[in-house]
Formats: sequence, structure tokens, C-alpha cells
Amino acid sequence: VIYKRLIRPFLLRFDAEKIHDHTLVALSWAQRNATGRAGLRLLAGPLPHQPRQLWGLNFPNVLGMAAGFDKDVRIATGLGLLGFGHIEVGTLTPRPQPGNPRPRIFRLPTDKALINRMGFPNGGVEAALPYLRQIAQSPHDFVLGVSLGKQKETPLANAAADYVTVMTAVYPYADYLAVNISSPNTPGLRELQGGDYLRHLLTTLTAENERLADQYRVLKRPLLVKIAPDLTWDELDEILENAEAAGVDGMIATNTTLDRANLTDPHQQETGGLSGQPLRQRSTAVIAHIARHTDLPIIGVGGIHDAASAREKLAAGASLLQLYTGLIYQGPRLPGRVLRQLAAEFTN
Ligand SMILES: Cc1cc2nc3c(=O)[nH]c(=O)nc-3n(C[C@H](O)[C@H](O)[C@H](O)COP(=O)(O)O)c2cc1C
Repeated sequence: VIYKRLIRPFLLRFDAEKIHDHTLVALSWAQRNATGRAGLRLLAGPLPHQPRQLWGLNFPNVLGMAAGFDKDVRIATGLGLLGFGHIEVGTLTPRPQPGNPRPRIFRLPTDKALINRMGFPNGGVEAALPYLRQIAQSPHDFVLGVSLGKQKETPLANAAADYVTVMTAVYPYADYLAVNISSPNTPGLRELQGGDYLRHLLTTLTAENERLADQYRVLKRPLLVKIAPDLTWDELDEILENAEAAGVDGMIATNTTLDRANLTDPHQQETGGLSGQPLRQRSTAVIAHIARHTDLPIIGVGGIHDAASAREKLAAGASLLQLYTGLIYQGPRLPGRVLRQLAAEFTN
């Protein structure tokens, strides 16, 4: 109530990305101080223990932070204290890149949505390694996923090499790897979801996965593919066939949408990917389709902003969940609140 009545209206007056930058500073301060950590735990409230075993990993609960919020691995610890059971950092590319010119995140408050055209701004994978290493080597109770991407200017024909570069660098520290071929803001990226590109990319990455596990003498990392919501059922079926044939471990559904149906906010004409409430139904339908046609475990993401929207994706066949936009509109208590409500239902 305090967040919605007082804090949110105040924050909505400023540029969305500026607020995000300040949030990063605040969270990274908080996670480094005993007082700050206690504050984050207090915000989260009592967290029910609802462990999930998947891909040989122990997830403390079903709800994770979606990719793009902690692109450079600065605040994963803080997000864990807020209750997220897994955090997907990135998307990381082989080299640093600035992304698109600002402004590039737009709020659509009347639609409970965001449009972003970030274009993978990040410090590059090398800069993230010390942070990844630090998390991996100290006690933490969240699962750490790393989202892999390609440099903006890398031609699609060479894209696989970019994914391999990022994968190789983060391999010892990542609990799972997410192959992001579905952001709408890197020109052409979504074409990697199509036939020949995808077969080549996924067979390259699954072979590399075997090789890297041997090289680093660690367990093979679960390799998940994150897809767009804007696919026809035929396109989706082809992706699933290729994912299964290549031996991929699971799917993340979905990324942001290019669809602009049923919006009311004047910012709807901005270029970019739409997230939040308007994505909810479509993303759930994609999850249900994957669950009906494959045995691949699914991380469901898109428009989760309360327990009902979370439950709906679990019912559609998701094993785990993620959110991003919900946190912007509902505030930092959201993960704890959703988890408590889900726990109450599971035990009743
Ligand atoms: C500002 C912003 C940046 C994002 N960046 C990434 C990214 O780098 N990689 C990625 O896979 N998804 C990215 N996403 C997509 C989210 O991870 C998620 O799939 C999408 O927002 C739908 O979930 P939501 O409705 O809960 O926000 C981004 C989303 C937003 C709003």
C-alpha cells in the first residue's frame, strides 16, 4: 500500500531507466551492508520454503527474476534477499556495448506494461566475471542463471560463435544457461529462432556444453532456450522439434511482444518489446502449447504480477516462474507476497 500510494506515483514522474539506475545503486549498497541486508529481508517478509528440484539444481522456490533486470550481475544477492529463488543475469554479450540511445524504456501505467528497446546494453562478459565468481564462491540460496546474447553487429551467420564465447567465459559460475534468441531489439536476432540457424546454433551449443563440462570438470549446465511470444504455432513446433533434437534441457517462455493489441496508454506507439499485463495471456498460451507437445521443463514468464497470474502459468505447465514488469508496478514486496500466497494454496 505504501509503495502503490506514495512511492510509485513519485517514481512514475521520472525517466524509467534513471529510476532503474538508482534502484541498482540502492540494492547494491543494501546487499553489501548488514543493515541493508536486514532491510531487504524485512521487505521480503517471511519466505515459505518451497523447494523445487529441476535439472539437478535445488531451487528454493518457484519464482525467479527474469533476464534484463540485473544485466551486469551487480545486484543478484540483493534480489535473492527479496525472495527470488533464481536470478537470470544478463543478457551478456562478448564485448561491452552501449545499447540504443535513451530514452529506451517507457511505462504504460494504464496498461500495467512497459515497452523497452534497450538493445542489450552491458559491460561485456569479461567485466561480469568477477561478480559471477564472487557469487559462485560464496554461500547464497538462489540459483544463478546467465542469459547469453550476441553482439549487435555480429552477422547472424556468425552468431553461434558469440554465444559460445559468452558461454565459455561464464561456464564455471553459471548454474544454468539461457540462450536468448528472442529479444526484439537486436536487429535480426529473432531470425535465429528459424530452421537452419536454430539447428546449427543449438547443436553447436549442446556439443560445446559437453566439451566445457569436461574441460572445467564440472557438471553439464542445463541449457534453456528463451523464445518470443510472437510465433505461429507451426513456427513454435519447429523450434520445439529442433530443441529436442539438439538435446536442449528446457524452454523459457516468453520474451517481450511486438503485438500492440488492446492498449490504452499513449506510449503504445513506441518501438520495442512490450512486457507486463498485456503479455500475460499470450505467454500462458505458449507455455500450455509447449507443455502439451513436449516433456521439456518450462520457465514461465510474462505478465506475472500477483498469485493468480503466477498460479495460471503453473497450471499451464510451467515448472518455474519469472517476472520483471510486475516488480516495477507492485514494488519490492511482490516476490514474498506471491510466494506466501502460493504456499498457502499448495498446503490447503
Ligand atoms: C527493460 C527490460 C529489459 C529486458 N532485458 C532482457 C534481456 O536482456 N534479456 C532477456 O532475455 N529478456 C529481457 N527482458 C524480458 C524479460 O526478461 C521478460 O521476458 C519479459 O519482460 C516478460 O516478463 P514480464 O511481463 O514479467 O516483464 C527485458 C524486459 C524489460 C522490461
